[in-house]
Amino acid sequence: MKLNNVIALVTGGVSGLGAACVRRIVSNGGKAVIADINEVGGNAILDELGDVVRFYRTDVRREDDVQGAIDLAASEFGGLNVVINCAGIATAERAVGRDGPQPLEHFQRVIDVNLVGSFNVIRLAGAYMSGNEPTDDGERGVIINTASVAAFDGQIGQAAYSASKGGVVAMMLPIAREFARFGIRVMTIAPGIFETPMMAGLPEKARQSLIEQTQFPSRLGQPEEYAQLMQSIVENVMLNGEVIRLDGAIRMAPK
Ligand SMILES: NC(=O)c1ccc[n+]([C@@H]2O[C@H](COP(=O)([O-])OP(=O)(O)OC[C@H]3O[C@@H](n4cnc5c(N)ncnc54)[C@H](O)[C@@H]3O)[C@@H](O)[C@H]2O)c1
Repeated sequence: MKLNNVIALVTGGVSGLGAACVRRIVSNGGKAVIADINEVGGNAILDELGDVVRFYRTDVRREDDVQGAIDLAASEFGGLNVVINCAGIATAERAVGRDGPQPLEHFQRVIDVNLVGSFNVIRLAGAYMSGNEPTDDGERGVIINTASVAAFDGQIGQAAYSASKGGVVAMMLPIAREFARFGIRVMTIAPGIFETPMMAGLPEKARQSLIEQTQFPSRLGQPEEYAQLMQSIVENVMLNGEVIRLDGAIRMAPK
């Protein structure tokens, strides 16, 4: 599928990796509905990109919100054929910290947003896209999830985040297998360390250490490089059921 034919739902599309995907899609002639909780940021992107994007205030954990975003793509742009799951939160907290055990609700919140939220979008968008007219290749849609290298080499303090991203990786294959009969591909990108507002929250020492652990190029990834891979996945119909690390060969140390 070429980007100029794409009508995408981009969760977390107001910021960082998601926003880079939105910009790349529209600069190549596609359209996008941005589904994000950040309304102020959403309105700013609408002002910037104009009529080829819509914003729907969405908490990915909520069925009504996600369905509303899908319905908006259908009513405003006439359909939906690509989903990019970028909404996510990152926390760092030891299982047993100075003040005792980590409150269970902290762990649950990360799982809820990153894992349950991604699944919520996949199931609702998958149901919609299964009714699409197939392309000549028999393709009805593409779903791209965002995991993290923390799914594989999580650091101390990343139990919740790593578990959520490990879940994103693990659910991909059963869903790709299930959706094969619809002609919907499911892929996952596991980014290393990217220069986004999420990373800006990291203390300078931790940031420098992660840059040093990135083998080559030894720098933060740029959101546009994530968007470039998103485009390759959308356009290459043979890519399915696979997780791609986009990480400059980083293997994160314990801390
Ligand atoms: N930046 C990195 O280095 C990095 C590395 C690995 C994985 N990731 C993953 O990439 C994705 C994008 O991260 P980013 O760096 O662009 O972060 P970001 O903070 O810049 O963007 C995340 C977006 O998600 C939105 N969001 C948060 N909770 C939401 C919810 N419940 N419902 C809807 N929207 C919600 C935020 O408002 C924000 O716009 C995340 O899933 C993150 O875990 C990022």
